Amino acid sequence: MRIGFTYDLKTDHVRQDGLPEDALAEFDSEETIAEIESAIQKGGHDVVRIGHVRNLLARLPHIDVDIVFNICEGMGNRNRESEVPLILDLFRIPYVGSDSLSMGLTLDKVMAKKAFVADNVPTPKYFVADGSFKKKDFSGMRFPMIVKPRHEGSSKGISEDSIVKNSLALGARISQVRSTYSQAALVEEFIQGQEFTVLVIGNREPEALAPVHIQILGKLDIGNLIYTSRRVNNSDVEYVCPAKVSKPLDKKLREIAIKAYRSVDCRDFGRVDFRVDKHGRPYVLELNPLPSLSTYDVFPLVAKAQGLTYAQLVLKVLDVAIQRCGLN
Ligand SMILES: Nc1ncnc2c1ncn2[C@@H]1O[C@H](COP(=O)(O)OP(=O)(O)O)[C@@H](O)[C@H]1O
Ligand SMILES: [Mg+2]
Repeated sequence: MRIGFTYDLKTDHVRQDGLPEDALAEFDSEETIAEIESAIQKGGHDVVRIGHVRNLLARLPHIDVDIVFNICEGMGNRNRESEVPLILDLFRIPYVGSDSLSMGLTLDKVMAKKAFVADNVPTPKYFVADGSFKKKDFSGMRFPMIVKPRHEGSSKGISEDSIVKNSLALGARISQVRSTYSQAALVEEFIQGQEFTVLVIGNREPEALAPVHIQILGKLDIGNLIYTSRRVNNSDVEYVCPAKVSKPLDKKLREIAIKAYRSVDCRDFGRVDFRVDKHGRPYVLELNPLPSLSTYDVFPLVAKAQGLTYAQLVLKVLDVAIQRCGLN
């Protein structure tokens, strides 16, 4: 098949004045793009590199591909990940991954939490702070809490300084997040304990793959530590996959991951981030319908735990999309 490939390269974008330091954090390196391209080629397919959304627009309507492998994150508002899927739908071009609705729904962590709460997917208690807030907004919640931008990824705007222990610190951090990221803040109860991430693949019967335990500074019970890209870049983080946890916790993580995946109508693949408290209760922090496929991230380790190579796992994602679209 001819597989179109849409992606955002870090080098395609220039950080504009006034944008936060981490504005380009979500984009991919040429190395990752080449790895994915080579994985798809190993499946006997031709890859047509398209690149970012504007390149896609420039090539439409005549683009000779059977399906598009899309990992575009886009730039700007909470619909940035929805742009490519929406355009491909408009031109009736099949693509790998979630549609624009699920992209927007999950990029906005507050909207995703509403879906999770409605579907009984456990998620930390929260409130949304846009402008002034009152004590009653968080009357049912306990400190410590964490303050995050409402619709960012790649730990943008999140560090250990995001954890607040009292109302005064809460107010200060909300103002800081709102002014730096020009969006509302999501305030959640902070779940001390362990952190996991679980990849899910498939559609009608989605499969949760081996859970990954996030180890930071040699600790598996990370307490108040936070999993950020800064820590990843400093080699503070190691991944244990498959996680060496009890069978019931392993099962619970996988079941909840699939429930979260279905709750936001995710397609083909996605990754669910969890914290687990000291009582062994998992909480879903977010679902990423565009999980990193970088070889420095968890994807190759999960492949290995499943007895697959990196390329085989990429091809599995492509195959479930090809099947869903009835192209086989
Ligand atoms: N409610 C929470 N309790 C504990 N840790 C949290 C919570 N929310 C976020 N974190 C920490 O911050 C990290 C990034 O948060 P997340 O919501 O997954 O945002 P991102 O989209 O940037 O990955 C998590 O991996 C976790 O370490
Ligand atoms: Mg996350």
